[in-house]
Amino acid sequence: MLKYEILENRNCFITGATGGIGRCIAMKMAENKCNLFLTSTNITKLKNLKEEIESLYGEKIKIYYERGDLNEIQDIKKIITMAREKIYTVDILVNCAGLFVVKSLFDSNLDDFDTTFNLNIRAPFIFCKEFSKDMIKSRWGRIINIGSSSAYAGNKETSLYCASKHALLGFSRALHDELKKNNIRTYCVSPSGAKTEMGKLIKNQNFDTFIDPKEIAEYVAFICSFDGGMISDEIRLNRMVIE
Ligand SMILES: NC(=O)c1ccc[n+]([C@@H]2O[C@H](COP(=O)([O-])OP(=O)(O)OC[C@H]3O[C@@H](n4cnc5c(N)ncnc54)[C@H](OP(=O)(O)O)[C@@H]3O)[C@@H](O)[C@H]2O)c1
Repeated sequence: MLKYEILENRNCFITGATGGIGRCIAMKMAENKCNLFLTSTNITKLKNLKEEIESLYGEKIKIYYERGDLNEIQDIKKIITMAREKIYTVDILVNCAGLFVVKSLFDSNLDDFDTTFNLNIRAPFIFCKEFSKDMIKSRWGRIINIGSSSAYAGNKETSLYCASKHALLGFSRALHDELKKNNIRTYCVSPSGAKTEMGKLIKNQNFDTFIDPKEIAEYVAFICSFDGGMISDEIRLNRMVIE
């Protein structure tokens, strides 16, 4: 049932690939011999990440990247065009890019609303719509939407983030129901605080206790490899603090 070898030669598209969690997922999928298409806003970080992964796994896989701001529809179109040119089809889609705005309701403005929702839910919607076509055709696919513990809670000063992650969870649940007949497994993976740049923005919690993003990546590879008759389509990853 757990077959890591089914990841071999699959094409994996990752947004937010240069972030703390995204880069660990990229590394892990490369270790499992997936070809990669990586995206984020920073071309230098993307180039460095490609070189780093290539130095470890480059003989076995192909790695491509394209920069783009997922707030911008033209950038999203450019990324899709480039992915179509380079890897042609996507088997595994990881929507990991995210924005965490820490502001009270009265300090939040429409621009915060738009950027949070564009990145955290509109971009996943567009990529799922585009690349699930490939998965339907091949009757195999994995969609991993990186949610958050904020998909299940409402915390002060993060109303837009909480709302966008609730939306992503609802979207994932619906996609799972809609696409499972095509052998596409849709997962919403929702970690609590993780040791990344974004994690540093979380207030009133002990960063030292946060999840190592490598463990999140292990989990993502694990669920992508599971090919049996059951599915855990919504996964909450909490930190284990031993006192
Ligand atoms: N860290 C946590 O505590 C935590 C907890 C639960 C869930 N999550 C979720 O996990 C995911 C990854 O978070 P992380 O901790 O890895 O964050 P991170 O280290 O801050 O990385 C964020 C990633 O998103 C990309 N990004 C940001 N704005 C973008 C934009 N406008 N267009 C395209 N890409 C953009 C960044 O690209 P650049 O490198 O170019 O800036 C980076 O690759 C997010 O969806 C987040 O909500 C995080």
